[in-house]
Amino acid sequence: MTSAISHTASLPTPLRPAGPGIEYRLSDLLHRHRAGDAVFVTDEVASYRGDHDPLLYTAHRDVLLPRTACDTDWFADLIEYRPGQLPGGELIRSTGHWNTPGQLEIFQTLTGRVAMLAAWRTRSGEPVLTCQPCGAGELAVIPFGGWHLTLVLDGPATVFNFYTDLPAKTAAPDHAPAAGDRGKYRRAAPVELTGVRAKDGFAIIGSADSLATWGVAQPVSEPTWLRDIVAGSSLADFYRADSATLAALVATARRHVPVCHRTEPR
Ligand SMILES: [Fe+2]
Repeated sequence: MTSAISHTASLPTPLRPAGPGIEYRLSDLLHRHRAGDAVFVTDEVASYRGDHDPLLYTAHRDVLLPRTACDTDWFADLIEYRPGQLPGGELIRSTGHWNTPGQLEIFQTLTGRVAMLAAWRTRSGEPVLTCQPCGAGELAVIPFGGWHLTLVLDGPATVFNFYTDLPAKTAAPDHAPAAGDRGKYRRAAPVELTGVRAKDGFAIIGSADSLATWGVAQPVSEPTWLRDIVAGSSLADFYRADSATLAALVATARRHVPVCHRTEPR
């Protein structure tokens, strides 16, 4: 198996990973899908038995040092997504998962172009599905407790993100509890949606149940409040700002970021 060429050499020095990272291939996605983890793939991918095992992405965990602020721990990752597509035309993608109820997670695309698909339920239980195309520099935030999936529109693409689990104040009381050591891919049934290449770019497809439940994705753009608070910094520089700056982010996020009030039972 050949090793992937890293595209992180052009990134600012603080974001150049020190190590090779963790590679996730098609076989890893299929293993999780077949093992009963909450991972949805297209029928073409699910039934694939060929030898082609493309690299989907390389995860560089803790690309910047973990830190403590606002009485909670913060972590920063960098993901390098590969170009190409999966059998049947499914887009190169992340695994997809439900965040924990108190998790504040923010992304910035550095190179390439991705789409952030996110799903959550309002206080009254209404399903909401959004899709945010993100070119270089664009910011995105995941709803507290929401499900999300990154789809690669133009690869290679590099995406920086940081996240923290805030105290339970933001958690909805009827949100399914985190599944402890069962891990983030087993918190709830997956949203059975993904993306495929289409004539006009890409299309969101999925199981009949999920398409009926979640409906057509609402196109959304970078949140203005998030751009205002990050201002002229890169998200990586912002992550390294003083604690008061992160505290201001938390306070603002609590006012603006939707809260998922129910995940799907397994
Ligand atoms: Fe997440």
